[in-house]
Amino acid sequence: MTHTTTGLLTGKVIFISGASRGIGAAAGRLFAREGASVVLAARNTNALQHLVTEIRDAGGVADAVTVDLADRAGITAAVHRAGDLHGRLDGAFNNAGIGQQPGPFDTTSDTDIDAQFAVNFRAHWTAMNAEIALMRNGGGGAIVNTSSIGSRRANPFLPAYGAMKRALNSLTESAAVTLGPQGIRVNGITPGGTSTEMMLEWDAAAPGIIAAAEAASPMNRMAEPVEVAEVAAWLLSDRASMVNGAIIPVDGGTGA
Ligand SMILES: NC(=O)c1ccc[n+]([C@@H]2O[C@H](COP(=O)([O-])OP(=O)(O)OC[C@H]3O[C@@H](n4cnc5c(N)ncnc54)[C@H](OP(=O)(O)O)[C@@H]3O)[C@@H](O)[C@H]2O)c1
Repeated sequence: MTHTTTGLLTGKVIFISGASRGIGAAAGRLFAREGASVVLAARNTNALQHLVTEIRDAGGVADAVTVDLADRAGITAAVHRAGDLHGRLDGAFNNAGIGQQPGPFDTTSDTDIDAQFAVNFRAHWTAMNAEIALMRNGGGGAIVNTSSIGSRRANPFLPAYGAMKRALNSLTESAAVTLGPQGIRVNGITPGGTSTEMMLEWDAAAPGIIAAAEAASPMNRMAEPVEVAEVAAWLLSDRASMVNGAIIPVDGGTGA
């Protein structure tokens, strides 16, 4: 009996949004290490190019595409870039997201609500439509959307963020049911507190948030970005072939 060692994602072309830092950048490194050709999307072109260089220097395949997820046409063009580069798309990690000014809902500004809708919800809808068009051509694929533990219960601290992430969970489940028969699996992940700039920003706006996240976790710590990316990698892989429409916590048990 011979054993062939292959990466979890060998041969797959995967689009990753929010890849300039945090969870998305960790996913770029990990997916490439697992054999995927990654197409890295975000606004910060310099950060993306640095990551492309790092991945290529390590022997991986990576390209960058600059996009502002508030721009619908730009999103479609960014996803199509993956098709232009590789002739197909096998996976998508719709991971980019923004925080809001913390506070109860009666202090949340219209500007914050509009931005939350555009970037944390509508952008993923638009991206998924472009992604599934490419995946259908290739006979199937898998999509993972990054939601949040903040979508699961009342979220008085981040009400617009929580509402849009919960809406994303619903879209993820609906898409899973619609697209399953076409060979496209759609799943979501709900990270808990994860050690990225987003948490640093929230902690700066409302000091004590990081300590509270650590204290609330049975693991007594936040997640490292790569620990979240690992779950997305598995969901995008053929090893998760029967997982569809799941919203999987990656929170160390905080939500249990
Ligand atoms: N960190 C946590 O504790 C935590 C917990 C639960 C869920 N999440 C979710 O995890 C995902 C990743 O967050 P993170 O923690 O890695 O945060 P992060 O370090 O702040 O990274 C956010 C990423 O999204 C990109 N992005 C933001 N706005 C964008 C826009 N308008 N257009 C294109 N890209 C945009 C950023 O890139 P550019 O600035 O270069 O555009 C960056 O790459 C988000 O969906 C977040 O809601 C995080």
